[in-house]
Amino acid sequence: MTVATSEMKEKVNEILKPWRGKTGGMIPILQGIQHEFGFLREDVLKEISTELRVPLAEIYGVATFYAQFHLKPRGRHIIRVCRGTACHVRGSLTILDKVKKVLQVEENGTTEDLRYTLEPVACIGACGLAPVMMVDEDTHGRLTPDKVMEVINSYE
Ligand code: FES
Repeated sequence: MTVATSEMKEKVNEILKPWRGKTGGMIPILQGIQHEFGFLREDVLKEISTELRVPLAEIYGVATFYAQFHLKPRGRHIIRVCRGTACHVRGSLTILDKVKKVLQVEENGTTEDLRYTLEPVACIGACGLAPVMMVDEDTHGRLTPDKVMEVINSYE
């Protein structure tokens, strides 16, 4: 069992404060928790469950329903390789394979050094630049496997 540290409890309390005694706060609470801790840590969710007297299963129900929430640690940089049709036609699979190989990471996985998380995504709306990948908020288009290396290196 993980013992909640006083620092963690303090941060959780800060996030819960505006929502105590109110309903409908679970999503903003989880957003706040994820922002603060990087992902939805089990010990933190247990603390919320105790503090708000909400069953842990209910909290996990919300956390697993929305794609925005993450139950595992994520990398400092999020790499999203587009798997939409236009990108697929222009070779997105070779781009994806290259990223996997370079980072030694599977789809939806995070590198051991917690630097990168790889997420294949549907069309990101830059089809004219296919094949495309995003790193954090930056869009990189007209990629080739060689260019992938260049892009990744620029985020190290
Ligand atoms: S299909 Fe890749 S950006 Fe649209």
